[in-house]
Amino acid sequence: MIELRNVTFGYDERVILEDISFTIGESESAIIMGPSGSGKSTILRLLLGLNYPQRGDVLIDGMNLNQISDRDLEEVRKSIGMVFQDGALFDSLTVGENVGYYLFEHTKQSTEEIETAVREMLGFVGLDADQVVDQLPEQLSGGMQRRVAIARALLATNPKIMLYDEPTTGLDPQATDLILRLVNKLTEEKGISTIVVTHQISDAFFLADRFLVIFGGRLIFDGTIAELRDSDQPQVRAFLAPYRQSLELVESKGFRPAQQ
Ligand SMILES: Nc1ncnc2c1ncn2[C@@H]1O[C@H](COP(=O)(O)OP(=O)(O)OP(=O)(O)O)[C@@H](O)[C@H]1O
Ligand SMILES: [Mg+2]
Repeated sequence: MIELRNVTFGYDERVILEDISFTIGESESAIIMGPSGSGKSTILRLLLGLNYPQRGDVLIDGMNLNQISDRDLEEVRKSIGMVFQDGALFDSLTVGENVGYYLFEHTKQSTEEIETAVREMLGFVGLDADQVVDQLPEQLSGGMQRRVAIARALLATNPKIMLYDEPTTGLDPQATDLILRLVNKLTEEKGISTIVVTHQISDAFFLADRFLVIFGGRLIFDGTIAELRDSDQPQVRAFLAPYRQSLELVESKGFRPAQQ
């Protein structure tokens, strides 16, 4: 479904990602971790065709983004829902207008039809539509804004792939829990392939058993959480060191993705 093949990418002369390869299958979820500035968001941009690699290929559903027409790229983008790191809601539009934005702009559906779809989607992400639909994003908490952003992504694209860039950063444990459950619900109920970029190792336990670590421009690890914990590769151990304590804490609570 998603494939990076020997991808090297840099902004200007500066190489950010070097010879990165991985594949993620249909209905599969994976976590991407790595230090700040290591190129995680850049990987998501490459998958959306917002940037192109200097070397290597990006394939979505078998289509090589380097080779397809603009029209096909539009189609590919429609199959991908992206929740950006900052939520990226339109400040001056209401929650309802934000969620229905794509339908208002790109379809001929009536206002009533769109409003119904918006309310249904707000319910799906666990928000009370009556309460929030006419509010501005700034009137909502960070966690609620994140859910609005997910609702918007879902309604815009009917996605086969969802990309989440740090969906739980800055949220309290309750809001984090709600977002993680929502991400899992989408992956399971809709059979969506999912990539979640996160700095929270505990997120990984809820979301995926597959773990990718970017470090120094390279993919230094691709495997399960257990393999990550037990790795004796020095770079992997160095990356994991600051997370050891929370890893043990989460493991001692017995959290597994399957329990969700
Ligand atoms: N438009 C741009 N032009 C030039 N350099 C950029 C651009 N966007 C990002 N970079 C650089 O590319 C590197 C990777 O950025 P990226 O946003 O992918 O990191 P990240 O892993 O998502 O970090 P974080 O965890 O802080 O979100 C950084 O050094 C950043 O400064
Ligand atoms: Mg980022």
